[in-house]
Amino acid sequence: MSIHISARKGEIAKVVLQPGDPLRAKYIAENFLEHAKLVNQTRGIFYYTGLYKGKEITVGASGMGFPSIGIYSFELFTEYEVDTIIRIGTCGAYTTDLKVFDILNVEQAASESTYAKYAWGIEEEIISHQGKIFGIINETAEEMSLAAKATNIHSSDIFYRKDPAVPAIATQYNCPAVEMEAFGLFANAQHLGKNAATILTVSDIIPTHENISADQREKALKPMIELALESAIK
Ligand code: ADE
Repeated sequence: MSIHISARKGEIAKVVLQPGDPLRAKYIAENFLEHAKLVNQTRGIFYYTGLYKGKEITVGASGMGFPSIGIYSFELFTEYEVDTIIRIGTCGAYTTDLKVFDILNVEQAASESTYAKYAWGIEEEIISHQGKIFGIINETAEEMSLAAKATNIHSSDIFYRKDPAVPAIATQYNCPAVEMEAFGLFANAQHLGKNAATILTVSDIIPTHENISADQREKALKPMIELALESAIK
């Protein structure tokens, strides 16, 4: 057990897929894993461990934002000897060059957040994916004939804001999309010398307000889930 996860040692696999939403973790476990066992439900943050094509995988939620993914990814890396976390989430596009359902493999996450600085003394406002898993995802996408665009993204603390303009940091670092967790995950992994990647599906186009409807989401996220699982077992 760790402070926020009640799984026993040994009940979490070396590779963890981490969606933001606990119910998405449940959906993945029930539809993609064999022999999935619920190993944590503290605070409704479900973690399941099971087999994908015979290899042990854990899928469990990060919650939303840096404080939440900061806690769960740190405890997975340090208390459960997890080697690799693949975040799978959604993002908003700042530009109509991206389309809903597009899949992004995050190269670097830029943020105005002080999380990395105050947690680990990391002064940079842009942090790279960590380790080999980003490259494995690119290769796997190619093998699956799936377009997964390698790109920088903006990781923000803010979902609702007064000013509709694209934030300066997103322009500065060529970030066509925004989400709220990758920077925190990459900071923890960099500090701990672990592997971390983030795969995102574009769920909304901010300037046009187009978005994937709730009933389209399950189907929409399937290619990203399969890409993450196929990469995780390599
Ligand atoms: N995740 C999905 N859409 C988002 C948005 N518009 N802003 C931040 N995170 C998101």
